[in-house]
Amino acid sequence: MTSYNKNDPTTIQEMFNSIAENYDKTNAILSFQMHKRWNQTLIEKTLIASHPDSILDLCCGTGAIAFEYLKQISVQSHDPAPSKIYMLDFSVEMLAFARKKAEAENLNRYNITYLQADAQSIPLPDNTIECATIAYGIRNVKLPQQCLKDVYRVLKKGGTFGILELTQPTNPLLRLGHGLYLRTILPVMGKIFTSNENAYRYLCNSIHSFIQPEALKDLMRAAGYVEIRSIPLMGGIATILIGKKL
Ligand SMILES: C[S@@+](CC[C@H](N)C(=O)[O-])C[C@H]1O[C@@H](n2cnc3c(N)ncnc32)[C@H](O)[C@@H]1O
Repeated sequence: MTSYNKNDPTTIQEMFNSIAENYDKTNAILSFQMHKRWNQTLIEKTLIASHPDSILDLCCGTGAIAFEYLKQISVQSHDPAPSKIYMLDFSVEMLAFARKKAEAENLNRYNITYLQADAQSIPLPDNTIECATIAYGIRNVKLPQQCLKDVYRVLKKGGTFGILELTQPTNPLLRLGHGLYLRTILPVMGKIFTSNENAYRYLCNSIHSFIQPEALKDLMRAAGYVEIRSIPLMGGIATILIGKKL
């Protein structure tokens, strides 16, 4: 079975292609649906807070963030829809499922462009996007600082970038329980639900080896972002970081 390594992005691409079909279902089971609440917080603090006219959801997967936002604004008729929505992912299979979902959920009426691309090299011109999001994606990117810089490049002045990522809790007891869950329960459940145990071992390792939110905040600062806010969720099991382009 393939072992996945973020220093070799083609293996990560392969992995996401292989789990795309069951991704939504497995995600819901493994996170005990907590991801939905975290996604909602990201949506509220970034997209709903700024009512952007153009949005870019990086590492969009099957569309959890952008589609949820579009569904919410479609029921709140006073909120204008963005005139341009870009959904970027390097997995063809994830994007294929996103397209199917958009069709099934009647979201094709929005102006959605799907971009099969690397989040470190965004195929969009400078200063074009009002709000960008990335959920559970930056941890998988080989050079997170390169992604932060490229998002900064495509953001308009005053634009917002919201990052949601799985992180390690700071409380030692919580950290211990969290580590045990990641090392023992998660790979077994991943095997049962996706027949790809290695993908969920990778998930565990990638959370352990990813930089702490404070260090990510420093990278954001170095990339030029200002007014950076950090919002720990459930004791730091996940963290939202939001920054602005000056
Ligand atoms: C864990 S999924 C998250 C999907 C979605 N954001 C969500 O909230 O459900 C991570 C996604 O990031 C994509 N991805 C990982 N590294 C990437 C990169 N360097 N460039 C573009 N997409 C990438 C994967 O293909 C996958 O669809």
